[in-house]
Order: sequence, then C-alpha cells, then structure tokens
Amino acid sequence: NKVVLAYSGGLDTSIIAKWLSDTYGCEVVTFTADIGQGEEVEPARAKAQAMGIKEIYIEDLREEFVRDYVFPMFRANTIYEGEYLLGTSIARPLIAKRLIEIANETGADAISHGATGKGNDQVRFELGAYALKPGVQVIAPWREWDLNSRESLMNYAEKHGIPIDYQKQATKSPYSMDANLLHISYEGGILEDPWAEAEEEMWRWSVSPENAPDTPTYIELTYENGDPVALDGERLSPATMLETLNKIGGDNGVGRLDIVENRYVGMKSRGCYETPGGTIMMKGHRAIESLTLDREVAHLKDALMPKYAEMIYNGYWWSPEREMMQKMIDASQEHVNGKVRLKLYKGAVTAVGRSSEKDSLFDEKIATFEDDEGSYNQADAEGFIKLNALRLRIAAGRKG
Ligand code: ARG
Ligand code: SIN
Repeated sequence: NKVVLAYSGGLDTSIIAKWLSDTYGCEVVTFTADIGQGEEVEPARAKAQAMGIKEIYIEDLREEFVRDYVFPMFRANTIYEGEYLLGTSIARPLIAKRLIEIANETGADAISHGATGKGNDQVRFELGAYALKPGVQVIAPWREWDLNSRESLMNYAEKHGIPIDYQKQATKSPYSMDANLLHISYEGGILEDPWAEAEEEMWRWSVSPENAPDTPTYIELTYENGDPVALDGERLSPATMLETLNKIGGDNGVGRLDIVENRYVGMKSRGCYETPGGTIMMKGHRAIESLTLDREVAHLKDALMPKYAEMIYNGYWWSPEREMMQKMIDASQEHVNGKVRLKLYKGAVTAVGRSSEKDSLFDEKIATFEDDEGSYNQADAEGFIKLNALRLRIAAGRKG
C-alpha cells in the first residue's frame, strides 16, 4: 500500500498521483529525476507537497545517466533499425532502477509510471522493475483508467483541485515529446501521417542544415577505452561532454532524424529525433575504432550490434543476455584509445583525422603504395587468392 511514482511534475503525472491514492488508497512516493530534459526538477517538490505527498525524491542523475548507460551503449556503436540512437530507450533502465531502489528504501511494494499501454516505455519500465524486484506490483494508470481524452483529464484535475496551468496547456507542443541529455523525441500530431514532413518549428535543439553556418567547425575528441573523455584537449565529465557536443552539433544542424520504427508491442510508429551530441559521438567512436580494433573483433561487434540494440529498445537492459554482451563489448574497448578530428558542416559530421600513440594498428610501412619493405610480400598474395578461389573454380566447373 505504498507506491513509488515516476513523477515529472507535469499535469499528467500529477493526476496519476492523485488517482493512485484515490483508487488504491495507497501512499504515494514521488521520484523526479534530472536526466537533462532541460526542465527544472525542483518545482516538482512544491507540486508534490501541495498534493499532500510526504516522501519526495528529487535527484540529479545526469552524470550517472551518461557514464553508466549512454557511454556503455555507444561502445557498441548501437543503432536500432539502422537509424535510431535509442535516446529514450536508454534512459528507462536508470529510471526503473531508481524506482526499485526507492521502493526498497521506503518500504513500498509497488511502482507506477505515466507511459501508455501502446508504447515501448511501459515495457522498459516494467521489465526493469520485475528484473530488479521480482515481487513488485506495477500500476500503469493509462492501461486502467477511463481518462482517455484531454478533456476527461482536465475535468479530473479540476474536480480534484490539481492546479492546471492553462497558459502552459495552451502553448503545449502538439507533439508527444521526451527529452534527456542524449536526445529529444517527437511523436504524434501531424507526424502520425508518415508522408507529412515535420515543420521547421518543431525542432528545438538544432538549426536546420540549410541555416547552419557556411564555415565548418572542427573539433578534437580524445577517447579512453572507447569513451570520449576530452574535447579539444580539455577533460570533461560524461554529462558535460554530451551537453557540450549537443550544443556544437545543434549549432551545425547535426543529428536530425525522421523515421518510421517498429515498436516492440507490434505497431509501427513515426518519430522525429534530435541527437546532435550522440551523432558526433558515434562518428568519433567509429573513427577511433577504425584505427585501433582488430578487423575480426570489429566485424564481430558489428554483427552482434543489432541484437544488442534490440535488447535496449525492447527493454531488456536488466537481462542476463545484455549483461553478457556488455562484458564482451567492454572487453573490446581495451585498446580504443586515441584522438579523432571531426569536421561539422551543415548537418554532416566527417572524421578527417585519427591517431593513437600506443594502440594504432595502422602500419604505414605495410599500407604504403610507395615502396615494398617490411612484413608484406606482394608475391604471397598470389597463393592467398588462388586458394580462396579454389571452391569458386570447382563450382564453376560443375556441369549443368
Ligand atoms: N519511439 C521512441 C522509443 O521508443 C521514443 C519514445 C518516446 N517516449 C515518450 N514517452 N514520448 O524509444
Ligand atoms: C508512450 O506510449 O507512453 C510513449 C511512446 C512509447 O513508449 O513508445
């Protein structure tokens, strides 16, 4: 009879808080996290207090989010369905973990969230919760109540004395959005027509490539064990790194995405995403791996990556298979050290330089077209090709 609610401080989750105590007669604990959504979290305290909530958790999880979730995911160059950088997906396991830890601290036996019954987020929150606390009870109001229109929600709020900021409601974006340090997402509204182009005003973090500066911006990223640790020689914390790259990328029109994706629950959905810093990090990481990873290690990682992306998208962060893969990915990053130089220009990120003092596998002496010395003998290539051609020649000689 105590429930921990993932509380944004917004109208919907305020209604949920009230609804939970009315419907289940339970005490509600609220949990609000700053994961870089760009909105103050402190106002959530006063709002929760005004609703009579006694246990209020407000936390800054930005560093933990980037260090323990975003960076580990980027070590695998993770992309879902060829395009999506998983900005929402990767934030959910951290929220699920904190919900459960707070439940344990406060003696709560249930958790609750504001995700609908049609999406991925409910799956991610709940799989995480069950994995970390098998006996936990989950309450998902959107799947239970009959407040299924904006109007019925507003009526409920009015009836129960939940303050509605009408000005805010009126200027509310027509999109369902979700933001954190890695991305901002937009779904719904006109985007529900997959043919309709998003209007320019929708995008909040980036200028359009057309309007980006006419001169390129160059940056240098330093990598240690696969993680970016310094920008232009200055060491930055994980969250500061991502925040700074978001700004530089956004200013150059980097990281916009418009896709139709497959949700785990079976439907297709159209989403637009801005992931400027993540897009830069992806390029940078691939560039430093290109110099420092063994070919077969790189190819094996790449072959397994879509599977790993699927685990994160579908909500299996806290699963034995994801943990197993993470160990493999992390082990592959031992030698991923060095620097990359990137050029940002009108929406594009190009790696224009890469170097690694101790870990480069690039051997100029071997690769050069100029001169033959060292351990590569061109004459060896003849036998290499002939033996590899053997089965092709046999197959070509088959009759019929
Ligand atoms: N479709 C994306 C995903 O599943 C974004 C979800 C956005 N979530 C939200 N609550 N608005 O990861
Ligand atoms: C939701 O349904 O709550 C948001 C969309 C999603 O989770 O996929």
